[in-house]
Amino acid sequence: MELSGKVCVVTGASSGIGRQTALDLGRAGARVCVVARREDRLRDVMEAMSETGDGHSLVVADVAKKGDVRALKRHIEETYGRLDVLINNAGFSNERPLWERGGVGDLEKTMKTNFFGAVYCTAELLPLLTAATPSSVVNVASIAGRLAFGGAPAYCASKFALVGWSEAMTFQLRSKDVHVSLVEPGLIPTEGFPQTDALADPILRYAVGNVEQVSDAILDAIQHRKPERVVPRFYYLFQLPRILAPPLYRLAQEKLLAAKASRALNSGSS
Ligand SMILES: NC(=O)c1ccc[n+]([C@@H]2O[C@H](COP(=O)([O-])OP(=O)(O)OC[C@H]3O[C@@H](n4cnc5c(N)ncnc54)[C@H](OP(=O)(O)O)[C@@H]3O)[C@@H](O)[C@H]2O)c1
Repeated sequence: MELSGKVCVVTGASSGIGRQTALDLGRAGARVCVVARREDRLRDVMEAMSETGDGHSLVVADVAKKGDVRALKRHIEETYGRLDVLINNAGFSNERPLWERGGVGDLEKTMKTNFFGAVYCTAELLPLLTAATPSSVVNVASIAGRLAFGGAPAYCASKFALVGWSEAMTFQLRSKDVHVSLVEPGLIPTEGFPQTDALADPILRYAVGNVEQVSDAILDAIQHRKPERVVPRFYYLFQLPRILAPPLYRLAQEKLLAAKASRALNSGSS
């Protein structure tokens, strides 16, 4: 799909991957509506995008709230009268263990934003997308939607749900000419995911990517109708041990958790 002149919605555009993607879409000539909860941060993005052309707009919305998502649809109808691309990127990871007070609530909150946020936006905006075919939905999941990590069960649950739903929707929406892509980032330092441990690790730091790579993958998925992009690409290989040698995969998980616990202990005692 040629992006010039197309209308794109990017959720979670106030920082990190979403911000970079909005800027790159603007540079490609698209008209971009940026969505998030922090208005001041969205205004910064609008300012940066103003150099790339006009036709951009912002909507302050919590994707976990159906009323906010309905208001987003009204804004798109009134401002542009069409929608070509929806990028479901809003997400976070911050949870207490299940056995602690608030653990279940954290899981529900994570599902509500990371999974249902994408569902609400897609459901509400689908009539506009089907009226503007060929159109595109990109769901920004995670490698944690393919491989479970012991440090963040609620986050993994939300991303596994998003991956499964997104893949099934790819088949269902094909008949309507709405293309659905999955983008699965690995370790990418951002505000919500600083990747401090990975960056401090002598080996793991080589596996750390950047927001530009993810944005490139998102634009590539839209322009070339790619069903799936893992970023950085070599993370595809990380799925192999789980399929081919599950005991090895479980051993690696235990070692990762033990290393994390020991780091926490050391930082607590120093
Ligand atoms: N960075 C990584 O290593 C990594 C790896 C795999 C997957 N991902 C995924 O990539 C996506 C973007 O994350 P990021 O790394 O760019 O983190 P980030 O810099 O913290 O950005 C997260 C964005 O989501 C928005 N957001 C969070 N909850 C929201 C809600 N309820 N409604 C609307 N917007 C909401 C935040 O804006 P407001 O706070 O202003 O609402 C912010 O713009 C997420 O889905 C994340 O799970 C990231």
